[in-house]
Amino acid sequence: NTRLLHDDPQGIETAAAILRAGGLVAFGTETVYGLGADAGNDRAVRAIYTAKGRPGINPLISHFASADAAFAQVEATPLARMLAGRFWPGPLTLVLPRARDCAISTIATAGLPTAAVRVPAGRTIHALLTACGFPVVAPSANPSGRVSPSDAQHVLAGLDGRIDAVLDCGPCPVGVESTIVDLSSARPVLLRPGGITLEMLEDACGMPVATMAGSDDARPSAPGQLSSHYAPGLPVRLEARSVAANEALLAFGPALPGSGLVWNLSADGDLHEAAARLFAGLRFLDMEGHRRGLVGIAVQHVPAHGMGRAIRDRLIRAASPRP
Ligand code: TXA
Ligand code: MG
Repeated sequence: NTRLLHDDPQGIETAAAILRAGGLVAFGTETVYGLGADAGNDRAVRAIYTAKGRPGINPLISHFASADAAFAQVEATPLARMLAGRFWPGPLTLVLPRARDCAISTIATAGLPTAAVRVPAGRTIHALLTACGFPVVAPSANPSGRVSPSDAQHVLAGLDGRIDAVLDCGPCPVGVESTIVDLSSARPVLLRPGGITLEMLEDACGMPVATMAGSDDARPSAPGQLSSHYAPGLPVRLEARSVAANEALLAFGPALPGSGLVWNLSADGDLHEAAARLFAGLRFLDMEGHRRGLVGIAVQHVPAHGMGRAIRDRLIRAASPRP
């Protein structure tokens, strides 16, 4: 009973009507699929937490059709406006103090004095947000703690029957979530590495951007971002230098020999291609590995620069101990 809507004017209008009425609609952005609701509607926002099984302390990102619409809800700083000018629409989320008359539900911001805002890229999501005219909160459209969805089928695999509709926007070109930067204090802090690399951010800011201590060693960063996350059913083993016959292999660059079940993130070692193929690969190896009775997923080394930082962050969480 979850409707699959097509990426055409009628599908977009239907999605907007469902959101207006307080329903839940998943849609594709350039990063991953989000599960959207009217940010000003407490009941709709609560329904997101219920559908995902998400802890209430984990706040949501609000999505807007334009930077002007976003900055009407938060106290924008000159640095925020500069970054928005440079990277919006695109995979960058800014954490800023809520404006005095902020229309975003306090449930969506988990009672924090700040709100996370972004203007996503993509013709369809832009048309949808324009049709809505209100902020739309959207976490990734997966059950809490599981692998994020990068196409419409991934959304249905996790949430079919729990949400009103999915607007099929095709596969997500970036493939990992947005970069989150906290601009609510004097110096910018990277809370989550994502589609805009740290190198791009530092170049734009003209200064070093602090990263969360230990962000590359499985410590939670943004509030509510639990350490175990993006977890497939099979255990994940990082930095593999060899692979056993009873393991699946998530390869990067030339694949290690030894496994009969391989998903190569990028045979050429291209980190952007690897990011776009990451979540589909984890899902495929998990499902097919399970079917074949394999015992785990071995992951080859991915370099820690550029998009590699976001890929490694997701892999480390996928490999961290489950609660
Ligand atoms: O690319 C993305 O960002 C996707 C698409 C759908 O836009 N969304 C996404 O949402 O990844 P989600 O809920 O999976 O991750 C949102 C993250 C959480 O880790 C949360 O802690 C952080 O944003 N966050 C939200 N509001 C915050 C705030 N006020 N301060 C700090 N972190 C915040
Ligand atoms: Mg998520």
